[in-house]
Amino acid sequence: LWYSSSVKKPEHFGFIKIMFIWERFMLFDRVKPLDQILATAEKKGLKRQLGAFSLTMLGIGAIIGTGIFVLTAVAANKAGPGMMYSFVIAGFVCALTALIYSEIAAMVPVAGSAYTYSYAVLGETIAWAVGWALILEYAVAAGAVAVGWSGYINGLLHEMNMGLPAALMAGPADTITLPDGTTTHGTFNVLAFTISLLITWLLVLGTSKSAKFTSILVVIKVLALAVFIVLAWPHIQASNFEPMLPNGWGTPLSGVGVLGAAASIFFAYVGFDAVSTAAEETENPNRNIPIGLIGSLAVCTVFYLLVSYAAIGSMGAQPGGALSQSKEPLAFVLKEIGFPGVGNAVGIAAILALPSVVLMMMFGQTRILFTMARDGLMPKAFAKVHPKYHTPHVVTIVTGIAVSLFAAMFPVGALADISNSGTLFAFFVVAVGVMVLRKQQPDRPRPFRTPLLWIVGPLAMGGCALLFVSLGWLTIKLFLIWFVIGMAVYFLYSRKHSHLANGTSHD
Ligand code: ALA
Repeated sequence: LWYSSSVKKPEHFGFIKIMFIWERFMLFDRVKPLDQILATAEKKGLKRQLGAFSLTMLGIGAIIGTGIFVLTAVAANKAGPGMMYSFVIAGFVCALTALIYSEIAAMVPVAGSAYTYSYAVLGETIAWAVGWALILEYAVAAGAVAVGWSGYINGLLHEMNMGLPAALMAGPADTITLPDGTTTHGTFNVLAFTISLLITWLLVLGTSKSAKFTSILVVIKVLALAVFIVLAWPHIQASNFEPMLPNGWGTPLSGVGVLGAAASIFFAYVGFDAVSTAAEETENPNRNIPIGLIGSLAVCTVFYLLVSYAAIGSMGAQPGGALSQSKEPLAFVLKEIGFPGVGNAVGIAAILALPSVVLMMMFGQTRILFTMARDGLMPKAFAKVHPKYHTPHVVTIVTGIAVSLFAAMFPVGALADISNSGTLFAFFVVAVGVMVLRKQQPDRPRPFRTPLLWIVGPLAMGGCALLFVSLGWLTIKLFLIWFVIGMAVYFLYSRKHSHLANGTSHD
């Protein structure tokens, strides 16, 4: 095996020894050599035109979305004012991961993200598991953002006395608070469904990442958050932070407390890895990708900490309280503290900007499935390209229908948690992969080296694992079921059809 022959003296490294044993069980075979992946990217020759600034904008464009605009309420419900700590913990885990992603993304500047890296380092089975988990990360996240968007637009429609009936405002598992304070269940979230279908259509036609358009939306989002901070800040009262930890720090599998909220609010930071999917279109990727990844995350973290502090301080954030029950929490806070007009404007900013996050998540999903199909691991039809629009229309339509249905049926918090389970798994594997590659191929040029990798790597793995077990038990169970289905598909179908194994790769 290529893998075996490239590792010197495995007995020196405990974890590599374990991998040798696992390899016997077909877990680490079929590695796609890095040089082959890089050669494919060179051949495809996408125009390298994105610079550090565009990449940072792209990252911020993918990061700021439903997480901060909507899940702030979910986090308040789980942790109370202690959600401040949740934002710090989730941000810290993402910062470690961004440092690690920077090393591999600068080294392997190709599309396909964590799936491709895993194929190159850990072999096909693990790559498959990562690709399968990324379906949760991207497709389910797209659904979550669409539901978040629907909360803001429903709020605005109600303000204009054009509100939809409650049954059409949310899915059956979601609750809606009526104007008289009573709660009811929805039936079908028609707006979340519609926006997802609309975006699917745009993707089939070939709308993707327009740098200029992304920048405009980023400015709108950042401006909305900045206005929120400035207006809410003077209303901060120390008493709103008492009690700080009404649900404590949280225990594993409970899905509540500071750690439970951190596991949910992690969603707000997801998206910085989108920078790496544009790697093939980046000029001087060695320098610009780390700047884009780390820069976009840093900017968002600063805004998030200020927004959450201002929201808690000005409004209070006790579980079950008004903020925790709102579907448009940032607009709600502004309305409550005496700025109804600005509250609506922030709502409109969210309504304008969130669809682009749905688009980026769905775009990422289609490209990962497309790459997997090109490798033979997914049905051939997924790699079909439309003769006129030059987009992978089959996979886009299949993804779009699935996303629209999730969005119509489930609450935003549940979708975000499920998405996080997939993302945390992928981040964990990338951390392992980067460390393994340092040992396996120490001399391969590394334009960016993760500082203190042997501390940062294990910390990132530990952080991802901690957040993962802090998700609720139901979410973890769903992840495990998804994982088992994925493994069955792999061993019954994909493994036999793999181009790498059959020597039929066109790459
Ligand atoms: N981070 C993105 C959001 O919060 C996925 O919408």
